[in-house]
Amino acid sequence: METRAFGTTELEVPVIGLGTWSVFDLADDQQSVADQVVDVSFKEGVRAFDSSPMYGRAERILGRAVSSRRDEAIVATKIWTDSVATGREQFEAQMNFFGGHVEIEQMHNLVAWRDHLGWLEAEKDEGRIDLIGATHYSRGAFDELEEVMRTGRIDCIQVPYNPREQECAERILPLAADLGLGVILMRPLGQTGLVGNPPPQKDLDELGASSWAEALLKWALSDERVHLAIPATSNPEHAKTNARAGSPPFLTEEQRRRVAQLAGV
Ligand SMILES: NC(=O)c1ccc[n+]([C@@H]2O[C@H](COP(=O)([O-])OP(=O)(O)OC[C@H]3O[C@@H](n4cnc5c(N)ncnc54)[C@H](OP(=O)(O)O)[C@@H]3O)[C@@H](O)[C@H]2O)c1
Repeated sequence: METRAFGTTELEVPVIGLGTWSVFDLADDQQSVADQVVDVSFKEGVRAFDSSPMYGRAERILGRAVSSRRDEAIVATKIWTDSVATGREQFEAQMNFFGGHVEIEQMHNLVAWRDHLGWLEAEKDEGRIDLIGATHYSRGAFDELEEVMRTGRIDCIQVPYNPREQECAERILPLAADLGLGVILMRPLGQTGLVGNPPPQKDLDELGASSWAEALLKWALSDERVHLAIPATSNPEHAKTNARAGSPPFLTEEQRRRVAQLAGV
């Protein structure tokens, strides 16, 4: 799998990671579902795993699934609350789930970011966090996201990017490149509404793609301003397919336009 420098940070990331929203919100007796997905992911070269306190039991389940290879994993999780006290509680819980350290701590949906940034910087100075990030899922929040980016106090961002959600390409990706920020892509498959409606296989054959998921992930990663796509899955076969989409060749501009057309854009 291709690896990319994560902005101007010291991190190098394999370009496919794993999202955990919804798919890892599992009961204890379903832990093996996550274990299998994480095991396949590691075998295929995936290293980055994204979660959040918003995702129910996902952080706990992910923590157990990566525990035996924790030193190889890049854990990207989030603080999601408008209260600093609750944010600190979320962080302490993460220290338990993830062995006393997280590589990337993001401010989820920019909630109370002005209140959280200072104490997250203090944790970074203490070495319990490597990088600080900010996420938002909506273009309506991109003005505020730009404001956070321009503070010079964060290392990375997370935004949606797929043929049906390309808004970040206009202002956010160029600004991230100028500032040297790492770029993580949420919803790279456009959730089931996009990946669940594949075009005919003959159209995929023309693109050299073995699946619609591969075409969509390559569409995103062909933009070199991005560093890491985090498709979510609870299916080990899908995890394998997705990981393999992280190897070149990526798509030409013409092929990207064709994928967008097949996505109905
Ligand atoms: N504001 C935020 O910070 C924010 C917001 C949204 C998402 N995120 C992060 O980004 C991650 C990804 O976004 P997302 O989960 O919304 O959407 P996504 O990754 O675009 O799509 C996930 C869906 O695609 C299916 N899928 C995965 N691989 C597939 C394949 N090879 N073939 C067919 N179907 C496949 C999965 O179902 P199966 O289980 O059946 O494979 C799942 O339902 C999240 O999990 C989360 O970590 C962050």
